[in-house]
Amino acid sequence: MLSIKVMVSGGAGYIGSHTVLALLEAGHEVVVLDNLCNASRESLRRVERLTERSLTFVEGDIRDRALLDQLFREHVVSAVIHFAGLKAVGESMEQPLAYYENNVAGTLTLCQAMQAAGVSRLVFSSSATVYGAEAPVPYREETPRGQPSSPYGASKAMVEQLLEDLCYSDSTWSVTLLRYFNPIGAHESGLMGEDPLGLPNNLMPFIAQVAAGRRQRLSIFGDDYPTRDGTCERDYLHVMDLAEGHVKALEHLPSSGVSCYNLGTGRAISVLEMVERFVAVNNVPVPYSFAPRRGGDLPAFWADPGKAHQELEWQARRNLDDMLQDTWRWQKQNPRGYE
Ligand code: NAD
Ligand code: UFG
Repeated sequence: MLSIKVMVSGGAGYIGSHTVLALLEAGHEVVVLDNLCNASRESLRRVERLTERSLTFVEGDIRDRALLDQLFREHVVSAVIHFAGLKAVGESMEQPLAYYENNVAGTLTLCQAMQAAGVSRLVFSSSATVYGAEAPVPYREETPRGQPSSPYGASKAMVEQLLEDLCYSDSTWSVTLLRYFNPIGAHESGLMGEDPLGLPNNLMPFIAQVAAGRRQRLSIFGDDYPTRDGTCERDYLHVMDLAEGHVKALEHLPSSGVSCYNLGTGRAISVLEMVERFVAVNNVPVPYSFAPRRGGDLPAFWADPGKAHQELEWQARRNLDDMLQDTWRWQKQNPRGYE
């Protein structure tokens, strides 16, 4: 595979930094644009250390058109992987305008700058949340988008629509939408991982912080769902598998138009199973108690990852124990994250 020079927006964040590492390891060249609103510059220093390769970092915002124009003038890239955005579902209910501004208006500005610079190949971070509550499981790409349950989900669905319209209007555009399921885990070295600011919203970092003694106990939201053990089921995948999925997507961008892929394992695990397995494989206690359901949670969803397997030759390779051990290694070695 020839080396591709790619701009990675949001490349200092959790999924972005692991993807930048995978891109460099695959021989590609990377320019990261990140405003560091939810990330640390240190993540990219560790990427450089682990890969023994260098990357270009530009601190700035995808909504800053002048900066984007300058970036595309100074760095001739042939594609963009677009992670930058806000991602907390609960926060999006309280601050919908911030989510539409960052995720939708930000993507619009990015696409306008790309068009002006003649860059028309894009991989976009979408989410399983666009399927909505009514979609049959496992989720399949041909199922139409449903009613998103939060402004965050709506912003992802809007961007998918925006990119479809753009490709329809102009055949020089080539876009791949990646719908992630639940990424967890950390790089096998223990040097890189998820570093949420403040109280974690998501299950895995919360479990890790309870195990490390930073939080007293985990609240499991709901024990009366119509699932195997009454707790919600999700399709958790290793962040390095997800990162490798981006490399495949970049290398397999369609010659024209939009492609869409689920990136998940195809297996659903319950919250209770996650906690019990974390305790067993890492030999560390995780006190928990049951709490009322969290608004907006669906009982159970998982991916049919067959299309990504067939067309991208991608498959999740790491198992649940890998995800749980790698999370704990990162948490133990970096109790205060990248600080
Ligand atoms: P993250 O917050 O760690 O990474 C996002 C990065 O974008 C951060 O480094 C942040 O500083 C940067 N950023 C935010 N707004 C920006 C802006 N306006 N300009 C420039 N940089 C900006 O989150 P993540 O978990 O790595 O998620 C990456 C992408 O994947 C997001 O678009 C998210 O919505 C999507 N996604 C995440 C999940 C998940 O569970 N983590 C699931 C589905 C989809
Ligand atoms: N949960 C708890 N306690 C916690 C945190 C979570 O019981 O402290 C439960 C939730 O109720 C849910 C499950 O753990 O049943 C998973 O919750 P997460 O918040 O980790 O993940 P979600 O499935 O809610 O959402 C994630 C991302 C979204 C993305 C979605 C689908 O946060 O951005 O996956 O990809 F849209």
